Amino acid sequence: MDIDIVSVFPEYFDVLDLSLLGKAKSKGLISVHAHNLRDWTHDVHQSVDDTPVGGGAGMVMKPAVWAECLDELLGLPEADNTDRPILIFPNPSAPLFTQQDATELSHAQHLVFGCGRYEGYDARIPTYYRERGVDVREYSIGDYVLNGGEVAVSVMLEAITRLLPGFMGNPDSIVEESYTGGNALLEHNQYTKPASWRGLDVPAVLLSGDHAKVDRFRRDEALKKTDRIRPDLIAQLDCHALSKADRKTLIELGWEVSGDHPRRIS
Ligand code: ADE
Repeated sequence: MDIDIVSVFPEYFDVLDLSLLGKAKSKGLISVHAHNLRDWTHDVHQSVDDTPVGGGAGMVMKPAVWAECLDELLGLPEADNTDRPILIFPNPSAPLFTQQDATELSHAQHLVFGCGRYEGYDARIPTYYRERGVDVREYSIGDYVLNGGEVAVSVMLEAITRLLPGFMGNPDSIVEESYTGGNALLEHNQYTKPASWRGLDVPAVLLSGDHAKVDRFRRDEALKKTDRIRPDLIAQLDCHALSKADRKTLIELGWEVSGDHPRRIS
């Protein structure tokens, strides 16, 4: 997978050389290029922003400098639509980035990320590229405002690249974790040895060696934890895909499971 990132702080992405992402880079699974947006400016001050039209606080990133940069990275106007990169802008006012988005983007060959700063970027930039047939995505990583898109791009990149075949030592760990699959639940708690630590014991069933019992215990723990912390995820479950045992647990937790999706009744 080829990854281009445009930022006024490209050094920020030096961190990508660390940890598993760094390993994936050295194994050749991914190639990452962080570009400085100011390299596409023509004035002595290398300015990338201007005051907002209509007034208001802060500065807005100018479309012209972004367009020169993105035309080059996207190979426009020559490149045909089929092998165009996907263009991604982090933006606090966009739909939330989810595990589903990470999974979909992990199948792409080439991603280009544009990091906004200040009060954001001119809204005509994504519009312009969409109108030219580019697949443009805007995502928020959470309901809070950061100083710029760099942290958000790091978050998205980590979520996407760890799904690439060959990235994880043990690919099973991806299948089992939170938010994965159609019927997403929060993952059950995990424990390691020792079985007893500072007066706190690992749940006895996990030491029983009975795999069916362990699976059922973990599934119930996942249902209970999701009910407590993210009931919105329970309400999105497909009742038709739930086992008899899942239904029983959900009913005990106060959900009705007779329709398409669970409904809280107590
Ligand atoms: N830029 C600033 N805040 C952001 C957020 N929450 N998500 C994505 N990009 C951002």
